[in-house]
Amino acid sequence: MSQPTDSRTAFVTGITGQDGSYLAELLLAKGYEVHGLIRRASTFNTHRIDHLYRDPHEESRLHLHYGDLTDSSRLVSLLSEIAPDEVYHLAAQSHVRVSFDEPEFTGNTTGLGTIRLLEAIRMIGLEVRFYQASSSEMFGSTPPPQSEDTPFHPRSPYGVAKLYGYWATRNYREAYGMYAVNGILFNHESPRRGETFVTRKIARAAARIALGQESQVYLGNLDAVRDWGFAPEYVEGMWAMLQADEPSDYVLATGTAYTVEDFARLCFAHVGLDWTRHVRFDERYLRPTEVDALIGDPSKAADDLGWRPRTFTPELARIMVDAELSGLRGPAADVSPFPVLGVAGRSIAG
Ligand code: NAP
Ligand code: GDD
Repeated sequence: MSQPTDSRTAFVTGITGQDGSYLAELLLAKGYEVHGLIRRASTFNTHRIDHLYRDPHEESRLHLHYGDLTDSSRLVSLLSEIAPDEVYHLAAQSHVRVSFDEPEFTGNTTGLGTIRLLEAIRMIGLEVRFYQASSSEMFGSTPPPQSEDTPFHPRSPYGVAKLYGYWATRNYREAYGMYAVNGILFNHESPRRGETFVTRKIARAAARIALGQESQVYLGNLDAVRDWGFAPEYVEGMWAMLQADEPSDYVLATGTAYTVEDFARLCFAHVGLDWTRHVRFDERYLRPTEVDALIGDPSKAADDLGWRPRTFTPELARIMVDAELSGLRGPAADVSPFPVLGVAGRSIAG
């Protein structure tokens, strides 16, 4: 970890998620004081950031606060108390398939949650730099390559909600002169990815099948094309966006295209298996409307911020499968005592 050099304060929503955990590490390494918003849950939900507590040096600069994106008064009181220099708004109901089941909830958290936060900042009169976690899902059915100038056509309640947050962020920048920016991030993955997103589901299945713990995994559409990058590199881009002289919106992507089938082939090949023998189809994982192809053009981020991806999909697949294997072989492997269906990665959410 590099020597801390900064003494700024950041407020991170979604700190318990994949990106929030990597961003907290990055900011702490830079010397920031980090305040994170967490939800009260009936079980522990801080496993991705627990290691930061265990490091006695980091403990003093990481603070967690209970709150929720649907609770405006709490957002106001927290922001008044913390008075951060930078706000990274990463919290959301982030699962596209689930957003079809819970469209109103997704709109309330993923969409309105953004304006609640922006409005809290405006009401208090904070001089902050604000990052909005916008998404390539907003491009929806608009054909690739997609850049900052590509028209949006969202294909899910999640995409619609993210578009609301995107325009709210631009509007607060234009209306109130806030330093508020959208990172339009294409899919980025890691061993910390939620288990019901397709890359983690496949990597986990390949590892469990290789170790003889399962035999099959059920998936939906194998033809979807995605531009998969490595999450730790994307949080560097988020930080870089808030350091620029002028606020602007940026795409972060690798610019490369792979299908879900390709990802399955890569993961299973890494453990010496033929994916066709282990992947089965389940229509429950299809979506009412699909986003067929997302391939980003990250040239603006490269030119203005010097941000470039370093890890591409084939290496990402290897990293994720290796992490699953070592987790399963290690003493801390968390095996459910109630394997309901006995099929790797199978869940309601998909
Ligand atoms: P993630 O792992 O699903 O994390 C989502 C975070 O939001 C979690 O910390 C979650 O808390 C929190 N959250 C959800 N609802 C909340 C609420 N009502 N109040 C407070 N917190 C709430 O997502 P991610 O992959 O890290 O993505 C981070 C952000 O980037 C999200 O906004 C996502 O939509 C967006 N994004 C992600 C990608 C990608 O490929 N990963 C691409 C583009 C944009 P719990 O831990 O308690 O559930
Ligand atoms: N989750 C899941 N589960 N997806 C599957 C499955 C399955 O069993 N089988 C096929 N897929 C396909 C989906 O239909 C989709 O086309 C693709 O795999 C990727 O699905 P996800 O991994 O769920 O990601 P996503 O692209 O829908 O959404 C992610 O990326 C967005 C950025 O474009 C999420 O992280 C969003 O929060 C993010 O904004």
